[in-house]
Amino acid sequence: MEEGARIPRLGVNIDHSATLRQARYRDEERTCGTFVEPDPVLVAQLAERAGADGITVHLREDRRHIQERDVERLAESLATPLNLEMAATEGMLAWARRLRPAQVCLVPENRREVTTEGGLDLRGQRERMASLLAELRALGSVPSLFLDPEPEILDLAAHLGAPVVELHTGALARAFPDPSRREAEWERLVRAATHAHTLGITVHAGHGVNYQNIARIAGLPHLVELNIGHSILSRALTTGIEEAVRTMREQIRAYATAPGTLPS
Ligand code: PXP
Repeated sequence: MEEGARIPRLGVNIDHSATLRQARYRDEERTCGTFVEPDPVLVAQLAERAGADGITVHLREDRRHIQERDVERLAESLATPLNLEMAATEGMLAWARRLRPAQVCLVPENRREVTTEGGLDLRGQRERMASLLAELRALGSVPSLFLDPEPEILDLAAHLGAPVVELHTGALARAFPDPSRREAEWERLVRAATHAHTLGITVHAGHGVNYQNIARIAGLPHLVELNIGHSILSRALTTGIEEAVRTMREQIRAYATAPGTLPS
């Protein structure tokens, strides 16, 4: 990491804007336009306008939120780097070959999980991971591995040639309300970030980061990038609800007194 870069970059994960769209329009062929909303690409562009340093999406095997077309449109239209989270499968590698995203974060995937639950288990797939990392680098994408904050796992990541790791902050996020567990998880994360830095690996972090625990997590030593999704989108819903209801009330009032008028 460049020691001068003290303020971590913010990658905004927009997966759950697609979760909301899929809740209503799963069976539509279109992924945007006319009544199909919200459009994750528009959400990404607004996030960029507000200061996001990058946009992250996870194209899951079951396509439960982000769709292939979303990733293609993002790759064509983003002003900031696209970070594609993906499982280490042949099918996903084909995608990376075609789209060459700026960053690729390899994550474990389990169909039954609600969201990515733990870091990658590197032990059983050393050769495969090493060759994936090498291929992604050759494509021009910076690869990272999503890992639990454990020194032995980081040693293995360094051995496999990972230039970047994303440390899983989920355990700290879950422990946050309990002071003693919080301090233990924080120490674990600090040790892991320091160890990764010593190994020459760039430190990213993410999962479960919110407007409370950011007070601690933003100060993680050697942190270069944070990836945050759920909490930002949750806040957008609550901060945006008043405007949305007010506008609908106004529309009802306007069209009730001028029936038949169509919006232009
Ligand atoms: N980083 C990784 C590797 C993830 O898998 C996720 C969740 O998709 C995130 C960051 C974002 O987590 P959250 O939505 O809890 O902010």
